[in-house]
Amino acid sequence: GGEELATVYDEALDEGFGLIASNVAEPNVMMGLMEGADRMNSDLLLQLSGGACKFAGNGDPVAGLKAMGTYIETIAEQYDIGVFLNMDHQTNLEFIEQQIELDIPSSIMIDASHEPFDENVATSREVVEMVDAADSNILIEAELGQIKGVEDEIEAEEAFYTDPEQAVEFVDKTGADLLAISVGTQHGVAKGKDLELRPDLAHDIRQELRDHGLDTPLVLHGSSGVQPDQLQEMLKHGICKVNKDTRYQYEYTRTAYDLYRETPEAIVPPEGVEDARDTFFNETEWSPDKSVFDPRV
Ligand code: G3H
Ligand code: 13P
Ligand code: NA
Ligand code: ZN
Repeated sequence: GGEELATVYDEALDEGFGLIASNVAEPNVMMGLMEGADRMNSDLLLQLSGGACKFAGNGDPVAGLKAMGTYIETIAEQYDIGVFLNMDHQTNLEFIEQQIELDIPSSIMIDASHEPFDENVATSREVVEMVDAADSNILIEAELGQIKGVEDEIEAEEAFYTDPEQAVEFVDKTGADLLAISVGTQHGVAKGKDLELRPDLAHDIRQELRDHGLDTPLVLHGSSGVQPDQLQEMLKHGICKVNKDTRYQYEYTRTAYDLYRETPEAIVPPEGVEDARDTFFNETEWSPDKSVFDPRV
């Protein structure tokens, strides 16, 4: 739950590692990630977008959350690592209310970063208050700044970097447990090589927060494709959660697609899918010490 995850973030801040947060929408990628994380003796944070919940729930996001939550929790019992669930880029307050009531995730990200500052504060604050009112331990992540690219139902054509002073005001006013920042990463496969990464800005945000007594863990979205040395640079500045969606989902899907194309006689899903899952987690590079960085997408 949220309490346990909070202690992982405390450790991450102390020791300077980032916990990978990877999106899933179905069991194959989920099991590949658990196996990979277990081999590295690393805790794992899985995350579900609204779209993933709808997909898993045959159109009903609450059904999808329950199904995936149960699936994750049941399979996680086979492993000794900590497996946590985050709700990624949530925009629907009614759905968030249901998530809190069901008490399935360990954390929820409210993404109102596309709204003007005051509205972003108000919406994010409302979610923190919902958690408090329910006397829940679920951690709340909120975002300030805007990351370029498409993520589920949110599309941003332009990036807006996070302003360090605004970050202090934002965390102070919202009471968010984690802060997602925009420091040059982008969402999606199409980000190419034109990333203008700003570890210096991550440093300034972290410094400004600390100057105001705020030890808020920072979140890096759009981390697929960020090179290991670039990521290490970012991890020095309080980034404790490293979001990757494209990297593993794309890798698995591509692997499965190739296997099916090469094996037309595979007529039931487990034929090929299990091979794909195996190839996927065998070929996925998992770094030790809980910080995972794999630059291949
Ligand atoms: O389904 C949700 C997750 O498995 C929760 O795991 O109890 O370790 O936070 P956790
Ligand atoms: P990528 O598109 O780089 O994998 O980022 C995923 C993400 O930020 C999910 O919230
Ligand atoms: Na809280
Ligand atoms: Zn994201």
